[in-house]
Amino acid sequence: MKITVATVKPFAPAAVTKIKETAEDAGYEFALLEKYESQDELIEAAKNTDALIIRSDKATKEVIEAGGDRLKIIVRAGAGYDNINLEAASENGIVVMNTPGQNSNAVAELAIGLMVFAARGKFNGKSGTELKGKKLGIHAYGNVGRLVANIAKGFGMEVFAFDAFVPKENIEADGIKALDSADELYSGCQYVSLHIPANEDTKQSIDYDLLTKMPSGATLVNTARKEVIYEDELLKLMSERDDFKYISDIAPDKKAEFEEKYADRVFFTPKKMGAQTIEANLNAALASAKQIINFFENGDTTFQVNK
Ligand code: 3PG
Repeated sequence: MKITVATVKPFAPAAVTKIKETAEDAGYEFALLEKYESQDELIEAAKNTDALIIRSDKATKEVIEAGGDRLKIIVRAGAGYDNINLEAASENGIVVMNTPGQNSNAVAELAIGLMVFAARGKFNGKSGTELKGKKLGIHAYGNVGRLVANIAKGFGMEVFAFDAFVPKENIEADGIKALDSADELYSGCQYVSLHIPANEDTKQSIDYDLLTKMPSGATLVNTARKEVIYEDELLKLMSERDDFKYISDIAPDKKAEFEEKYADRVFFTPKKMGAQTIEANLNAALASAKQIINFFENGDTTFQVNK
């Protein structure tokens, strides 16, 4: 039985070692494909393994079908699985899992760091502003949203959240004000931190109508996915409002246009950095390996996302 780690963006070396040791201790073979340059390499890897561990790597229909009768499980070491063709996986009898919560703290810390960076004018030497006393809207109260809310409270921010799927009382129990709609969240908060997944309901859902509601001096922080932003409408809004900032860990498709027109008000990390810490890599990598072994040995499908 073989476990293959296939990641364009490598884990920290210690995390790879952890997966290798965990696999080999359980009597599994281990293979590594890192920094690959063509999708064909992932397809080749899928042909020769029983289990795949990936990050944002694209598990397309082609990759999944390449798995043939051998590939049984794909684990996305992380939270979002919009990079995996779940339908194709289900049709081919492949179990898909994620590792929820394992890299959340890293993403939450980055979201707060990006807020400070924006508030201080990207460290340009001029007077900036503070986060203390500002209203922060958490859009979706999952593992990351919850951690961002908690850290923001420590900064003295007034924290609100909206999540259509989390009962309000669960949010309020954390001392966060739960709101009834996204409209309400964006209307009241100078900072909004995005934590929604990318799916058919959310793609391009962060649009002009919603963003225009944000009060003066607004900053939108995106450590979620670029696909949830309606880029043309954000560009339109930024052309009308010179107080509006957009800071993201995932560069938009129209990055060049944003940077050319609004250099002082946008920032995009050169590579998605949210989950890129040794701690997050270790947590997600180890969880992935354990989930695979537990699946093969005990039939455990606790973290399956394509049920
Ligand atoms: C996730 O969904 O877990 C994060 O976006 C991290 O993605 P990455 O593993 O590709 O950095």
